[in-house]
Amino acid sequence: MEKKNIDWENLSFSYQAIDQRYVADYADGAWQPGHLSSDPMITMSECAGVLQYSQSVFEGLKAYTTKDGHIVCFRPDLNAERMYNSALRMEMPPYPKNLFVEGVRKVVEANTAWVPPYGSGATLYLRPYMFGISPVIGVAPARDYQFRIFGTPVGPYFKGGVKPIIVKVSDFDRAAPRGTGHIKAGLNYAMSMHAIVTAHQEGFAENIYLDAATRTKVEETGGANILFVDGDNTLVVPKSDTILPSITRRSLVYVAEHYLNMKVDERPVYWDEVTGHKFKECGLCGTAAVISPIGRINDHGTIIDFPSGMEEIGPVMKKLRETLLGIQMGEIEAPEGWIFQIV
Ligand code: PLP
Ligand code: COI
Repeated sequence: MEKKNIDWENLSFSYQAIDQRYVADYADGAWQPGHLSSDPMITMSECAGVLQYSQSVFEGLKAYTTKDGHIVCFRPDLNAERMYNSALRMEMPPYPKNLFVEGVRKVVEANTAWVPPYGSGATLYLRPYMFGISPVIGVAPARDYQFRIFGTPVGPYFKGGVKPIIVKVSDFDRAAPRGTGHIKAGLNYAMSMHAIVTAHQEGFAENIYLDAATRTKVEETGGANILFVDGDNTLVVPKSDTILPSITRRSLVYVAEHYLNMKVDERPVYWDEVTGHKFKECGLCGTAAVISPIGRINDHGTIIDFPSGMEEIGPVMKKLRETLLGIQMGEIEAPEGWIFQIV
């Protein structure tokens, strides 16, 4: 299929409507068969559960072209599973995991002209999401829901691609103990808007959140998990019940152990380890961000500079990033089941 006439190399991380999206309704107490639609607009009750009480969950994954010309997605089964768990926590009827993956396949198949070519650095970002669509006025779950998947071609999440970024330690909390930090609910992002707008106004690319209960441990950023490399080249991965179980992070842990023979330490990471300069590299990881190096953290005026500096990504983060991207792009053999081939 002929590709769309797009300047693939210079795409930003932004939305544009593409030809087809997947839509399935939950009505009469059951998920109805899904279908493709060319209509990017949604009409719903003014009192829909999502509008009144933010009953929504979402996912993010990418479709892209591999070296040998296939169009694939990376581990969509894990997105299906996480969304299933997110829905349960939000008292929403979970979308069956096999249908989620089939929906992904249908959307990508119907939009191959929008999947960026191999080597462009761009991808087709897919956004599965689900929301309460029927009216609710007393605080309660909606009766009816809609599940959708749209795609949008994107470039790097942070301007500058893999240039190290500067982040700040947020004054705000992201996730309460026993709250919803471990699921991908829209409400987690709604409550981070003020913090991210403030951070951007101050010149920072992102916020680092500390744990809300004690503010002594590193949690994650607004849209990605955090990774560190210590003086022994061990990958140190913050572990917490209140952060999102990132698929990228879980994949990188596997890559570090099985492809790069690195030691991995998944444990609570204390903020004073960071201010005490225990780590020589730091980065954030996620579907949108892949791995973005953090060169500097500003903690209320105290500056933590990582030895990897502000010019380029550090050697360990670079190796992790290149190996993961190599696996995704079909240049390095992938572990069984990681690459979901669509075309
Ligand atoms: N943490 C948060 C808060 C996110 O929004 C995301 C993005 O999905 C991630 C982590 C990374 O998760 P994943 O690697 O599954 O995309
Ligand atoms: C992703 O990485 O897919 C995300 O959802 C992060 C952000 C765009 C919310």
